Amino acid sequence: MNILGIETSCDETAAAVVRDGREILSNAVQSQIDLHAIYGGVVPELACRAHIEAVVPVVEKALEEAGTPLSRVDGIAVTCMPGLVGALLVGVTYAKSLALATGKPLVGVDHIHGHIYAVNLAFPELEYPFISLVVSGGHTSLYHSRREVEHELLGSTTDDAAGEAFDKVAKILGIGFPGGPAVERAARGRDPARIEFARTMLGPGSLDFSFSGVKTDVLYHVRGQDGKHPRALSTGEVADICAGFQEAVVDVLVEKALRACARRGVRRLAVGGGVACNGRLREKAAARGAAAGVTTYFPPGRFCTDNAAMIAGLGYHLLRAGRADDLTLDAVPTKLHRR
Ligand code: KG4
Ligand code: ZN
Repeated sequence: MNILGIETSCDETAAAVVRDGREILSNAVQSQIDLHAIYGGVVPELACRAHIEAVVPVVEKALEEAGTPLSRVDGIAVTCMPGLVGALLVGVTYAKSLALATGKPLVGVDHIHGHIYAVNLAFPELEYPFISLVVSGGHTSLYHSRREVEHELLGSTTDDAAGEAFDKVAKILGIGFPGGPAVERAARGRDPARIEFARTMLGPGSLDFSFSGVKTDVLYHVRGQDGKHPRALSTGEVADICAGFQEAVVDVLVEKALRACARRGVRRLAVGGGVACNGRLREKAAARGAAAGVTTYFPPGRFCTDNAAMIAGLGYHLLRAGRADDLTLDAVPTKLHRR
């Protein structure tokens, strides 16, 4: 089965064709990073308009690169939740139009479950069950993943997502967007213990996250307790702040993920989402995981950030599980039920 996947939940317009949930025939991504960079964050209205312009050419590119005309596509999978509602609507509406025009089956895909499936694409040998940590600009969630289409939510962020905290800290420091790669670059080779920031654990048993404290901690450090007295920072000090901040976020993510593994007696940890690109997170999760008997699975960068191969791949399993949608499929910006 050739599945066409379409992804427009945030600031990447992406389309891919994946055969039998495994073989990636094409994986086209058009990023809007340059469009949003001057604002230091994604501007929803701009994102939505850019998706409208890009979605048709990106889908055509994916079909062409795969050498698969629409007539040889067996199903259409589209991200329908969560994300920016205007952005999601572009993909969902286009996918529904294609399904109506061609009579092909349609399936809506949860973007976060897609990020988990990206780990399967990179590691076909990864066996279920495993614990999944999805860390991106919009989400920070832990799941007990039992099969491709069954993920039990164990915890999620109560305020900012981890990637959002990276983006906001980079904005405070004026070092660029997206913040994650900028912070990681600045922190390279610095001693993370030189400036320590808050690690919010929310109690010894909690699997939820909170990153607004560490972000505010950085803000106070840079602009004083009232946030109104900015200090001139040397390049070295900016680098030390980045290293201290990154370490605090990484420590919380690794601690909670390993807690979840211990709680469920699972020895495999899959990590996805843009923040999974972070080298310090990879290093620390692997080291602390090994000490706890847990193997960690981090996909290569192009499978961590938003892409449509993960949507097409998971769409295949959803269709096989009889979970096709009809033309009432709608865009849902947030998950209504946390658990
Ligand atoms: O998964 P993604 O492409 O989009 C969302 O679904 O949000 O993730 C983007 C997020 C951004 O917040 C970005 O700053 C973060 O992932 N990110 C990183 C790194 N690369 C991207 N965070 C930390 N370290 C990185 N190397
Ligand atoms: Zn994402």
